Amino acid sequence: MKVTVFGSGYVGLVTGACLAEVGNEVVCVDIDEGKIARLNQGEVPIYEPGLDSIIERNMAAKRLHFTTDVDFAVRHGLFQFIAVGTPPDEDGSADLQYVLAVARSIGERMEEYRIVVNKSTVPVGTADKVRQAINTVLNDRQKPCEFDVVSNPEFLKEGAAIEDFMKPDRIVVGADNPRTTELLRALYAPFNRNHDRLVCMDIRSAELTKYAANAMLATKISFMNELANLAECLGADIEQVRVGIGSDPRIGYHFIYPGCGYGGSCFPKDVKALERTARDVGYQAQLLQAVEDVNDRQKLRLFEKVNDYFKGDLKGKTLALWGLAFKPNTDDMREASSRVIIEALWEAGAKVQAFDPVAAHEASRLFGNRSDLALSDSPEATLKGADGLIIVTEWNVFRSPDFDVIKAELSSPVIFDGRNLYDPARMKALGFDYFGIGRGA
Ligand code: UGA
Repeated sequence: MKVTVFGSGYVGLVTGACLAEVGNEVVCVDIDEGKIARLNQGEVPIYEPGLDSIIERNMAAKRLHFTTDVDFAVRHGLFQFIAVGTPPDEDGSADLQYVLAVARSIGERMEEYRIVVNKSTVPVGTADKVRQAINTVLNDRQKPCEFDVVSNPEFLKEGAAIEDFMKPDRIVVGADNPRTTELLRALYAPFNRNHDRLVCMDIRSAELTKYAANAMLATKISFMNELANLAECLGADIEQVRVGIGSDPRIGYHFIYPGCGYGGSCFPKDVKALERTARDVGYQAQLLQAVEDVNDRQKLRLFEKVNDYFKGDLKGKTLALWGLAFKPNTDDMREASSRVIIEALWEAGAKVQAFDPVAAHEASRLFGNRSDLALSDSPEATLKGADGLIIVTEWNVFRSPDFDVIKAELSSPVIFDGRNLYDPARMKALGFDYFGIGRGA
């Protein structure tokens, strides 16, 4: 089948590459000429395990094309996926200018039936706006032309996006025309094996499903972080509580890991946008506000522990910091807790020596060259001359370090662990002062 994908960012690239991988002819179009030129030279602009090889293979097979030629792109695909960014406006609502610009581009060039598929995370009601934008342009052109708009949100996790696309838990299709649903069913057939994963619904419900999923996951995390802080006050261990509640299948083990806050390009943005949507229709979403507030506070939790340990005197101290990315297996530092912690340490007069397996270049892009930030090329190198160690991201390489080396290098043997990687009793036996999240027992 012929597919066009607008936007060669994270979602667009994964969608385009995976649809090509199963035999479709895919054209990915972006207005960023530099990006398209790099992609055509085989350079993938994002770090996502497995993506490069799929792109390379399908470009070689001539099933995957990158272009800035919008005329060609609209002519090409029966399916016109919109996968452009929806950055938050100042008030937290999603900025739809890029989505609507693509809709107009399609309307300006469309000559025959097209299915416009919204993949970007967009507020409820966006499909109507997309339809309206296309209709307005078609009317101006005096060109009656049939089209349908579909909401087909993505549920990809960074670092596992290929797997998530190839073996989805569910494929949500919001459509108001049964014929469109059937065409989407055919397109997704290669990913819809063993049992039917297509969940068909009306368009607005599909749009809300995306926000509901992310907001629910964010709520689970903030709930656990709240409980972790309480466990510290009560002398209980949240890790034991986690296992205790997770064993109830109604609660489950997933996404109940306490830590130093959630980050990334989705949860913080989507919780805010949903809250804003609620406000727009006159509903005050108190729980969502609390989820966000708890998370903002949690990102400072490790800093507070460091500050308390050094009795509020961090001037001239150096802290080793492991993990800059908002989670493992990505170089993404958007809304990462590391940024909040590092800024707070700087503010208090401390220096930071950081290591991340892949995000160092992103950190230097964000922070530039600063005398109070050293980016090391190994976890051990961060420890030299440091007063304590802070762990922010649970990369596997941090799970079983040489504790003798850590102890020998740090001027005070103290670890602040934002991901509860180690057993507090063992750390105590090894002679460390060890502070996790919610480990009050
Ligand atoms: C999230 C969702 O998991 C995807 O289903 C969704 O498609 C995606 O957003 C999106 O809307 O595009 P992602 O942002 O890649 O995916 O990352 P997650 O793996 O969900 O992690 C988000 C944050 O939550 C990370 O900072 C992680 O450290 C934190 N987290 C996660 C916890 O603190 N505790 C947990 O138990 C789980």
